[in-house]
Amino acid sequence: MNFIRAMLAGAIALAVSGAALAQQPIVVKFSHVVADATPKGQGALKFKEVAEKLLPGKVQVQVFPNSQLFGDAKEMEAVLLGDVQFIAPSLSKFDRYTKKIQVFDLPFLFDDIAAVDRFQQSPAGKALLDSMKNRGLQGLAYWHNGMKELSTNKDKLTRPDDVKGLKFRIQASDVLEAQFRALGANPQKMAFAEVYQALQTGVVDGQENTWSNIYSQKFHEVQKTIAVTNHGVIDYMVVTNAKWWDGLPADVRKGLQQAMDEATAYSNKLANEINERDRKRIEEAGKAKIQPLSKDDVAAWRKAMEPVWKKFEGDIGKDLIEAALKSNQ
Ligand code: LMR
Repeated sequence: MNFIRAMLAGAIALAVSGAALAQQPIVVKFSHVVADATPKGQGALKFKEVAEKLLPGKVQVQVFPNSQLFGDAKEMEAVLLGDVQFIAPSLSKFDRYTKKIQVFDLPFLFDDIAAVDRFQQSPAGKALLDSMKNRGLQGLAYWHNGMKELSTNKDKLTRPDDVKGLKFRIQASDVLEAQFRALGANPQKMAFAEVYQALQTGVVDGQENTWSNIYSQKFHEVQKTIAVTNHGVIDYMVVTNAKWWDGLPADVRKGLQQAMDEATAYSNKLANEINERDRKRIEEAGKAKIQPLSKDDVAAWRKAMEPVWKKFEGDIGKDLIEAALKSNQ
């Protein structure tokens, strides 16, 4: 009798703790390197809001901006190790995982963000979301930031000759390294979180980024000139651990995908607006001069950066470059 009672008590205890476990929400960490008041920062917060609304009690999304949890150097490994579930690195930072994605870094390939968007939504662009699955990363969406501008601590910044011999911080991308070498400058790969200090102390003379990143990181306070080059793009791929994603309960995966789709639409719609707003704020701050460029100046930058295309054509593939070029029409 005592034995039966003990068995029953054990079974009840197990059932109770099982039920408690079943009620624990899945904690989903989203880590990124920029400020909340940027397109990516806003997208991550929207994702949290929608995911928790669609999956009440089932998921809890924690957003960590500003490299608080992981910076550039660690975030991909952290996803693969399961220490964080979502990250959204710039497309320039994936070249260790797939060479194809380097297409986004080719200078002067896209006319504007609308063209970038058309390419991302094309079959060739969508296929890239799955191109790192064999390395454990599943792409879920593209998020926009915007076109890049070039800044330095010098007064003159209109022609390629103006950057000869200068040191530039670049993202971890071989294409961007080749781009600055083609200009006769010295590129230095560096994590985003270290850029402000490197500019302030003169470790580097310049950098390239979007208006929203320049403003939110205060780069305009430690640079003299920002030239409106629009020579490339900073966009993102939201990625997760492929195994973790495939192993989620189907309803949770579906809800998270829907939240991702809504956050994508929201942040992509906002991106231009945020960059325009921050360009104005930089202008109003009156610290760095915004240098407009003539058509002739832009043509000179384009020509100086041209050799980069040939260098990476083999790795990226001619077909993919042509598919990207088509999105300009
Ligand atoms: C950079 O490193 O300059 C950017 O990629 C940062 C970001 O995520 O926008």
